[in-house]
Amino acid sequence: MSSAGGARRLLVRDLAQLATPHGIDAPLRGRALGSIDLLEDAYVLCDGETIESVGRMRDLPSLDGDVDELDGRGLCAIPGLVDCHTHACFAGDRVEEFALRAGGATYEELHAAGGGIMATVRATRAAGEAALAGAVRLHRSWMLRAGTTTFESKSGYGLDRETELASLRAIADAGGVPTWLGAHAVPPEFGDPDAYLEFALLEVLPAAAQLAEAADVFLERGAFDVAQSRRYLDACTAAGLAVRIHGDQFTEQGAVGLAIELAARSVDHLEATGPDGVGELARSDVVAVLLPASALFVGRPMPPARALVDAGAAVALATDFNPGSAFCESLPLVCSLAATQLKLSPAEALAACTVNAAHVLGRASRLGRLEPGYAADVVLLDAPDWRYVAYHLGGDVVAEVIVAGTRAELP
Ligand code: NIG
Ligand code: FE
Repeated sequence: MSSAGGARRLLVRDLAQLATPHGIDAPLRGRALGSIDLLEDAYVLCDGETIESVGRMRDLPSLDGDVDELDGRGLCAIPGLVDCHTHACFAGDRVEEFALRAGGATYEELHAAGGGIMATVRATRAAGEAALAGAVRLHRSWMLRAGTTTFESKSGYGLDRETELASLRAIADAGGVPTWLGAHAVPPEFGDPDAYLEFALLEVLPAAAQLAEAADVFLERGAFDVAQSRRYLDACTAAGLAVRIHGDQFTEQGAVGLAIELAARSVDHLEATGPDGVGELARSDVVAVLLPASALFVGRPMPPARALVDAGAAVALATDFNPGSAFCESLPLVCSLAATQLKLSPAEALAACTVNAAHVLGRASRLGRLEPGYAADVVLLDAPDWRYVAYHLGGDVVAEVIVAGTRAELP
């Protein structure tokens, strides 16, 4: 396959290892989640924005014409990481709240007292579209530094028409995959969730559906219940959006059943999910998106990851990057938490934040694997073994990131 417009070829040669998960038609489950193709003394050849071939150095074909070369000695290649759940469009911070939580206050108490999500809503509404666009670009640069080449981001800190739409535009302009989290919280100018939903579905959804790919709802005590979530997601489905649910973060309120009923792409969090929910998910096509950095950051129990994988559920991993419950943009750190806290193998963790995450975003035919025809998005780890991506806790493991066949400038 040759690239249009004479785009350059890039050969990364003499890699210590190249590791890539399987999984084309459907998210990986069960034993397949942990099966990785591993090549030692390997190369990856990019032709423009697409991978032309991968293989062992001894099988490298002779290359005619102009080829840029990158020395991969001492490095390992894995697919560009895919973060399928972030809240990257926000202004301000919640460092004060973080310090209060360190002193014993809980996330739920701060939320109930008008802090939490609403504190970020106030800052985000006040910021203006240009500042929001700048914030998403800054957060994207942090993610790229940690090896994320594709990110989803939700809106949800505007909760008025102007700021929600500005958020979705800022996310798309920064190259993110936009999700309309129109049902994140009930803003103070509305008396109750139903009145707010009436407004959001009538006044915001028609324009949001033109900008976003999916819709999301926070189904939780103190946020939206099952009936309200169903109403919101049904309207979003009718407007052409895929649907997702923040569910079982603190309490089980029926999120898993609703996600299955509505054929949601995913149900995300699941820290509170019990054995029944695990079994239901395993028998469904809904991807369980696990966010261990969020559980760690707010001091909650970890989600039942091992039980989900062993029961045959499709599992993905993401950061949940946001200023309140997970100020963490690093998928390598999430892989470390997956191994140490969730008891997933490094191979399972890698598949969960590459190919399975790409499925959640509807992009698995192009993203999440190092295979001919896939996007030339590659992370080069400064490590003799690719499993350092999980092993080096908090380490600076990412040496180089290649995005669409071009070496990215890392911040
Ligand atoms: O996924 N749970 C709801 N939303 C976010 C947190 C948002 C915030 O605290 O600002 C989450 O954890
Ligand atoms: Fe979230």
